[in-house]
Amino acid sequence: MNWNRRHLLDIESLTAEEIVTVLDTATAFKAVGERVIKKVPALRGKTVVNLFVEPSTRTRISFELAALRLTADVINFTAEASSLKKGETLKDTARNLESLNADIFIMRHSAAGAPHFLSRVLNASVVNAGDGAHEHPTQALLDAFTIREKKGRIAGLRVTILGDILYSRVARSNIWALTKLGAHVTLCGPSTLVPRGFEQMGCRVTHDVLEAIEGADVINLLRIQHERQRKAMFPGTGEYTSLFGLNKARLERTKPDAIIMHPGPINRGVEIDSDIADSSRSVILEQVTNGLAVRMAVLFLVNGGRGPQEVGM
Ligand code: CP
Repeated sequence: MNWNRRHLLDIESLTAEEIVTVLDTATAFKAVGERVIKKVPALRGKTVVNLFVEPSTRTRISFELAALRLTADVINFTAEASSLKKGETLKDTARNLESLNADIFIMRHSAAGAPHFLSRVLNASVVNAGDGAHEHPTQALLDAFTIREKKGRIAGLRVTILGDILYSRVARSNIWALTKLGAHVTLCGPSTLVPRGFEQMGCRVTHDVLEAIEGADVINLLRIQHERQRKAMFPGTGEYTSLFGLNKARLERTKPDAIIMHPGPINRGVEIDSDIADSSRSVILEQVTNGLAVRMAVLFLVNGGRGPQEVGM
């Protein structure tokens, strides 16, 4: 199916066919990234603004490199050094940048819905790079890409997401993507961070870590989002690690071919043992590698690309 959207704001509003179009387009761009010359002219003459109003390592650098690989000009906006600090509104900031002929805004913001707002006040395309605890669509797309690459399919797989679900935009976007693609999703963590209400999104909820990880094909670990929690949600980090952290003993209870994922940044020794993070079972760095191809695909598609058939440049 052909892509026909100017923005990527969330996974919730995408169809399964649209998600597959992004993944197939990313497959084509991954092949481009394996050539000697890794650049293509798909966005030549276009300007991409990285508008990050919240910290990021992986997403911001990955989007920047993706835009450069597509031959776009890139502006990296740093909120701390901007006139946002002097009281300029987000709308005025973005409209001033658009006046410099920016074509695509990639936005991370602590407020849920901020990229949706921007898409209503700008003519440029907007890509959500994480909005509060709401969604992180490109993370879910690169996670789905990695699962499909490692397992050959997504439909029918058992995927466990373990950790702080309540405050996680990665969890919400993953739940939307994986359930649309036919996976069976189980959520696990402390009851304060994994409320039963998530069952309405089509997932299973359990607070028993062994039940959650035994039989899973994919275990996706999430860190505790301390920056979003307004009160203590569990007694302490040590207790969280002892009850829910992935350690050697728990890993032995998982399927030998289950892959271990994490969107990063990881907290070694908290949600994941350091040795497991670095083990052959972990695909954490492959997720980062795949993020580049997925973000090239997203920039290509929101700029008017229709699908993988147009990538053979
Ligand atoms: N996974 C992720 O969004 O990482 P960053 O916060 O470093 O971008």
